[in-house]
Amino acid sequence: MKRIGVLTSGGDAPGMNAAIRAVVRTAIYHGIEVMGIESGYAGLIEGLASQMGPRSVSGIVNRGGTILRTARSEEFKTKAGRKHAAANIKRFLIEGLVVIGGDGSYRGAQKLAEEHDVPVIGVPGTIDNDIGGTEYTIGFDTAVNTAVEAIDRIRDTAASHDRLFIVEVMGRGTGFIALYVGIAGGSEYILLPETKSEMDEMCRSLETGRKAGKTSSIVVVAEGDEAGGALAVRDAIRKNTGFTDVRVTVLGHLQRGGSPSGFDRIQASRLASEAVMALLRGETCKMVAYQEGHILTRPISDAWTDKRELNPALLELAQKLAV
Ligand code: ADP
Ligand code: F6P
Repeated sequence: MKRIGVLTSGGDAPGMNAAIRAVVRTAIYHGIEVMGIESGYAGLIEGLASQMGPRSVSGIVNRGGTILRTARSEEFKTKAGRKHAAANIKRFLIEGLVVIGGDGSYRGAQKLAEEHDVPVIGVPGTIDNDIGGTEYTIGFDTAVNTAVEAIDRIRDTAASHDRLFIVEVMGRGTGFIALYVGIAGGSEYILLPETKSEMDEMCRSLETGRKAGKTSSIVVVAEGDEAGGALAVRDAIRKNTGFTDVRVTVLGHLQRGGSPSGFDRIQASRLASEAVMALLRGETCKMVAYQEGHILTRPISDAWTDKRELNPALLELAQKLAV
């Protein structure tokens, strides 16, 4: 193998740059050239690629976002789109592709491999931590820390004004971010998509706390919860509890940017470096994964067949600590 390609796809995540850097430098260390593909699969279809050297990834380990930029491409979901992409891979003499992104990006990568015989390896990059087959995805730790910092600030106002705040966090259809943020931010209640509607129980529990002397509270709601968003939660609380001053903060994309934590930089470096090693070993249709402290490769399809569950011990802990 003489040359590989690397791209970032789907939502950006803090630590993607550290991953790009690790791909480039590991490959060069082993005498392999690297083409950086811009704007994910959309850029691959358009043929946006240029050679990267050790200096093209200088000073990026600490930067959020992705220097290669990212995209969501509808065209790549079609056979014709992937045919264009494969033609460019051939034109650029790319013999293996590292895809940094979420499970959607992996699905695309697997199709590209099966239809056009391009070796592919996925690196888990999303703040949601929702990819099967791995206990960790790059960006999760930073996103959690950013949201917790925001909640700490909101708590100052909640306590000073005797207010109840509902804080909505990201996570798509999963509650990994919400559960971690809820525990670390000391919230009184966490609404998660994985647990069925808890609105009545939440209102009872908030009211019990209020009557016992809690003047301010924080409720964390995952964007994917069936409650239907922070405003619906606010209305239910206003209607069913004695809290009169109820405010809403939707953290949104604030959680996705920013300098990656040390943990994310290490995980990104380990996972992405292993992706290059996997290509050099001749592996394809694999994802690199973090499991019980080890970095290993698994079939890329594990990303969607091996469903990630919330840790039941953490769910129980959240309940105990919210009393
Ligand atoms: P993520 O990778 O973070 O899950 P998306 O689900 O948006 O993000 O996927 C990123 C891109 O991967 C999509 O815009 C599309 O180009 C490609 N992709 C996603 N799902 C498929 C699929 N089933 N087949 C082919 N390509 C796909
Ligand atoms: O997958 C990362 C994520 O930030 C999710 O948490 C969120 O639901 C989604 O992307 C938002 O996507 P967009 O930036 O396209 O609105």
